[in-house]
Amino acid sequence: MNKIPPLAITLIKVIIHLVSLSVLLYLYLLIDSGRLGADPVKEMIHFLGKTGLNYLLITLAITPLSKRLKQPLLGRLKRLLGIYTFVWTSLHITAFLWLELSWEWGFLFEEIIKRPYLSLGMLAWVILLLLSITSLNAIKRKMKQSWFILHRWVYVAVILGTIHYYWSVKSGVTEPIIYFIICFVLLRERSPYFKSKFTSVLKVISMKSN
Ligand code: HEM
Repeated sequence: MNKIPPLAITLIKVIIHLVSLSVLLYLYLLIDSGRLGADPVKEMIHFLGKTGLNYLLITLAITPLSKRLKQPLLGRLKRLLGIYTFVWTSLHITAFLWLELSWEWGFLFEEIIKRPYLSLGMLAWVILLLLSITSLNAIKRKMKQSWFILHRWVYVAVILGTIHYYWSVKSGVTEPIIYFIICFVLLRERSPYFKSKFTSVLKVISMKSN
């Protein structure tokens, strides 16, 4: 397969922007036409939460895809997709804070402490926030090796986001389970990394016990 030229990557980025804008427009049309059912606020929170999780899974699919297709330039899409993940999940939380809690920040923190599934959601969001801030080239250069260590936390964010989803549903766990399977398949692609991490932890433990 021929190498994808840089111009094609720029084109794909434009398509990602257009798709993201269409998703937002679609949500607006659903709201405007009253097609969000009996509880439009809940549906809006769900829509934005699921879109955020979908973008996170797509972001994690880029590296295995670029390796299998031997197209390293695809890696350039990760930052844009990562930023959109952060935007969708921030809109998700804003919808909850605005439409369910009427901008009562106190309630938000009370809810996050009181409901474990929200605590996990908050942890996932904080990780996505740190990854977004540090995705700036200047910060990446300054952070050197620790940048790569920090950006491995995306694996923790996707696990927390999927558990948050599973735990938030009142009925019908089929879809969250499908998300768990996709999450597992994408993380399994990183098994060499997890194995090396696990081995080095075992080494430290055995050295400490000697
Ligand atoms: C402070 C952080 C967060 C808060 C306060 C929050 C809040 C919520 C709430 C209130 C629900 C709906 C629960 C219900 O139906 O009763 C929900 C569901 C959901 N959230 Fe979050 N969330 C947060 C972070 C995240 C993050 C970071 C992600 C994605 C990575 C995410 C993805 C989802 C998904 C997929 C659902 C289920 C949607 C569905 O049932 O269709 N949330 N969240």
